Amino acid sequence: MAKNQKSSLFSFQNFCYIVIIFSICSIILFLSWTHCCSQCYPHFPYQTTPQNQTQNQNQNQPINLLLYPLAWNNLIFPSNTPSKLLKIALFVKKWPQISHAGGLERHALTLHLALANRGHELHIFTTSTNTSFINHSINKNLHFHFSQPSPAGYLDQSLVWDQFQQQNSTIKPFDIVHTESVGLRYTRSRYISNLAVTWHGIAYETIHSDIIQELLRPPQEPQTNAMKERTIKVVEEVKFFTNYAHHVATSDHAGDILKRVYMIPQERVHIILNGVDQQIFKPNISKGNDFKQKHKVPNSKSLVIGLAGRLVKDKGHPLMFEALKQIIKENKTFLETCIVLVAGDGPWATRYRELGKNVIVLGPLEQNELASFYNAIDIFVNPTLRAQGLDHTLLEAMLSGKPIMATRLGSIVGSIIVDNEIGYTFSPSVIALKKVLYESWSCRRGILKMKGEVARE
Ligand SMILES: *[C@@H]1O[C@H](CO)[C@@H](O)[C@H](O)[C@H]1NC(C)=O
Ligand SMILES: *[C@@H]1O[C@H](CO)[C@@H](O)[C@H](O)[C@H]1NC(C)=O
Ligand SMILES: *[C@@H]1O[C@H](CO)[C@@H](O)[C@H](O)[C@H]1NC(C)=O
Ligand SMILES: *[C@@H]1O[C@H](CO)[C@@H](O)[C@H](O)[C@H]1NC(C)=O
Ligand SMILES: *[C@@H]1O[C@H](CO)[C@@H](O)[C@H](O)[C@H]1NC(C)=O
Ligand SMILES: *[C@@H]1O[C@H](CO)[C@@H](O)[C@H](O)[C@H]1NC(C)=O
Repeated sequence: MAKNQKSSLFSFQNFCYIVIIFSICSIILFLSWTHCCSQCYPHFPYQTTPQNQTQNQNQNQPINLLLYPLAWNNLIFPSNTPSKLLKIALFVKKWPQISHAGGLERHALTLHLALANRGHELHIFTTSTNTSFINHSINKNLHFHFSQPSPAGYLDQSLVWDQFQQQNSTIKPFDIVHTESVGLRYTRSRYISNLAVTWHGIAYETIHSDIIQELLRPPQEPQTNAMKERTIKVVEEVKFFTNYAHHVATSDHAGDILKRVYMIPQERVHIILNGVDQQIFKPNISKGNDFKQKHKVPNSKSLVIGLAGRLVKDKGHPLMFEALKQIIKENKTFLETCIVLVAGDGPWATRYRELGKNVIVLGPLEQNELASFYNAIDIFVNPTLRAQGLDHTLLEAMLSGKPIMATRLGSIVGSIIVDNEIGYTFSPSVIALKKVLYESWSCRRGILKMKGEVARE
């Protein structure tokens, strides 16, 4: 592609859109997905899917990325320095504080730090009540513009708009504007044609979570109005989304909804999966062994199950807790051969501790420790009930070469566990989760290892 950057096919504006998401593509590679029919045994060598995107990218034939219908993650980008340095604006409600960042914040940090490292000039419009917590020296190309949040905790639109206009009128106007979700609301975004918004969850996807929560609701708890209000929210979104020039969906499923349900023209919707730093998350056996030793995981355990993230209800921890509790009760062998490592904090940490010494709650881990954690486990389980966005933990585990097990949600089966050669999916119920936990346990460690290799590939 780099060879063709100067060709007439790329107008300057097109080029800008391409560059903003450029780095995230270069740090993530989702290569050929695979086909398999057996539960435990992956076939080697595996076949590639019909969407052989790497191959279709003919060296000498330029492609128009704006019209490219599939996820961009398979594309190969050059690693040389950009031929033009851009001035980029980012609107994000909150800039992350390292180990406590949620998905949206990690997206903001990973992408824009990578862009800054490539030499682009980044202007970040964000809230802060305390301007001294940010480490300004992480990159000299990052410029922060702080403002007091609105009473509801959002970016104060008129304040950030003034800051933005001021920057846009000095020396050089912005080449590209990016907003993480509604950081910049549609009331202002409508005036900017060189803008892309990244959605980390849209109301239509949330309907699936609402249905799951309602099905799992204990009879003594009252029904909420969430379900009824959600469809109204979808209609509102359909109406105001059109005020954003370009849309980035972080999963194939969300991209499909944006085009089909939200009726946004195809050339304004771009699918780019969340990115993970593959310099940090990668296989390293000795790191895994050190981690196990440090946390006193006996070598006699034939299966180490890992969980990570915020230990809250909507991440499915009540389900996982109940499934483990029942398995421990009904099967003595499980206690002897398995151990569960839980990274993260939240209300369910205490419940997990009640399950005894086979469940080790590690608390929140910073990035390097988390990388070791993934190396120490045999399978990663993410029982999330949140159907919106795309969980980073699954991608991190895969890049570490581990098989994964997760809820059968549209974004997960469409973009991550596309095949049972990579891992396991289950419907969000205790019975279904127990069934796949037993199934993975009966697979030998070597088989899980093979699945992990396929996942990484
Ligand atoms: C897919 O692309 C790879 C890399 O160019 C190539 O080796 C392989 O044969 C292709 N597979 C199919 C089915 O076209
Ligand atoms: C602001 O953050 C710094 C660094 O984390 C901290 O030392 C300081 O106490 C904070 N100030 C306020 C007012 O919260
Ligand atoms: C700020 O970041 C730099 C570079 O990553 C690091 O060397 C330095 O120790 C950090 N300072 C603080 C106070 O966190
Ligand atoms: C930013 O500045 C450029 C150049 O002056 C101008 O064309 C553009 O309309 C400005 N953008 C906004 C949103 O004001
Ligand atoms: C694996 O991790 C260890 C300890 O952190 C490090 O010394 C070693 O270089 C790493 N190996 C590879 C291949 O990255
Ligand atoms: C426990 O599970 C293992 C593996 O699935 C099975 O072989 C064994 O019979 C079970 N034991 C009991 C007591 O259910």
